[in-house]
Amino acid sequence: MSGFTALILAAGKGTRMKSDLPKVLHRVSGKPMLLRVLDAAAQAGATAQIAVIGFGAEQVQAAVGQRAQTVIQTEQLGTGHAVMQAEPLLAGCTGTIMVLCGDTPLLRTATLQKLLQTHRQMQAQATVLTAVMPDPAGYGRVIRDKSGKVTKIVEQKDASAAEALVNEINTGIYCFEKDSLFTALSQITADNAQGEYYLTDVIGILVNQGRTVAAIAAAEHQETLGINSRAQLAQAEGIIRARKLAELMDDGVTVMDPASTFVDDAVTVGADTILYPFTWLEGETVIGSDCRIGPNTRLRNTTVGDQTVIQFSYTHECDIGQSVNIGPFVHIRPDSVLADGVKVGNFVEVKNSIIGPDTKLPHLSYIGDSDLGAGINIGCGTVTVNYDGKQKHRTVIEDYAFIGCNANLVAPVQVGSGAYVAAGSTITKDVPSQALGVARARQTNIPEWVKRKR
Ligand code: UD1
Ligand code: CA
Repeated sequence: MSGFTALILAAGKGTRMKSDLPKVLHRVSGKPMLLRVLDAAAQAGATAQIAVIGFGAEQVQAAVGQRAQTVIQTEQLGTGHAVMQAEPLLAGCTGTIMVLCGDTPLLRTATLQKLLQTHRQMQAQATVLTAVMPDPAGYGRVIRDKSGKVTKIVEQKDASAAEALVNEINTGIYCFEKDSLFTALSQITADNAQGEYYLTDVIGILVNQGRTVAAIAAAEHQETLGINSRAQLAQAEGIIRARKLAELMDDGVTVMDPASTFVDDAVTVGADTILYPFTWLEGETVIGSDCRIGPNTRLRNTTVGDQTVIQFSYTHECDIGQSVNIGPFVHIRPDSVLADGVKVGNFVEVKNSIIGPDTKLPHLSYIGDSDLGAGINIGCGTVTVNYDGKQKHRTVIEDYAFIGCNANLVAPVQVGSGAYVAAGSTITKDVPSQALGVARARQTNIPEWVKRKR
């Protein structure tokens, strides 16, 4: 199938969202709606994309970036008027234009491909994607003659009582042959209930000119849901989430409670991994197989190796190896790398640090700006003192070192391989390999002190 130009209408304010953010930038499962539409069109084979923007144009343009060309519609005079704004940008384009709306985040690529295929097979000048709605209220109705041929689209506000009973609706998604589209657009007027230039009028005009107009119904009406309110936004979120979880389950992932599991589109999870309730997997997170993630765990842009266990924890922008055990109540912050076999236990924070294989940080520690080797044991309450008020400094701990409980390691400082740090020490000087570093006052016991005090 040869390419087409996608034209996405996204100039409206979305009044019913009651938001300062342009409607099409509201996110569904982590991604702005408009970008979802651009993705679907690109995957369906769009060779060029143009977005008509207006409300919040600067913000929308920034979100779109290089993904599409944009054209500004300064006054929102209707969908037909919006398409006309793109005419200069379409000067070099011949062939098929697919018109879409920026507020339909649930569209599937396959549906767009089917629309295009029908358009080509029928050699139509226009093909409308329709949907059969249990409740068609608010939508434009697709009117057909006795033989089933589309004759026109009537907006709800302009519909006769009989037309309003039709439950096949216009999804607002179409394929047009460019020349026919613009010839017909030059004939539309704003002489209707809303005083707008309706793109939908093009259909009746083309039919009257004796051109071929086709229509194809989407397999499921849900997919073409246009988001106009926060309630519909939540509905879309639920549908996209369910789709992603269904994919994961098909691929062999156990999702214990889909109602409380949130997984962004780009996330991948290996087979036999179990996602416990209240798990959020966000951004570009990649999880290996045979892991146990959750309950109550949020992973953002995190890579996790196979057989790793993470519970009651938050990790972001970090790399976690294989057979790692994290939690409960751990925070792994950006630029941290945890090698295979690492254990990070109760109430530990790790930031911008490399933790070598099989090293253990079991309880109540802060490890920041540090390089830890293999097989190290970090005692309870160990703190790397990485900040002098002006600059951050690194702590280096070499393989098989043993840090006693409640030690402060004042960076920059290095503990050599196999060295010990005595519990309660505040270490300000390097500890050589195999040495014991002690930095605390010696204990004195005063005999009979209690008796005398009485
Ligand atoms: C439109 C269709 C209706 C269809 C419905 C599907 C028309 C006249 N009606 O109605 O048949 O059932 O979509 O959801 O086309 N927009 C602009 N500039 C404008 C006006 C709209 O860019 O001047 C954009 C909006 O941002 C939105 C899209 O076009 O993304 C649709 O506009 P909207 O006002 O929501 O149209 P509906 O009344 O829902
Ligand atoms: Ca709409």
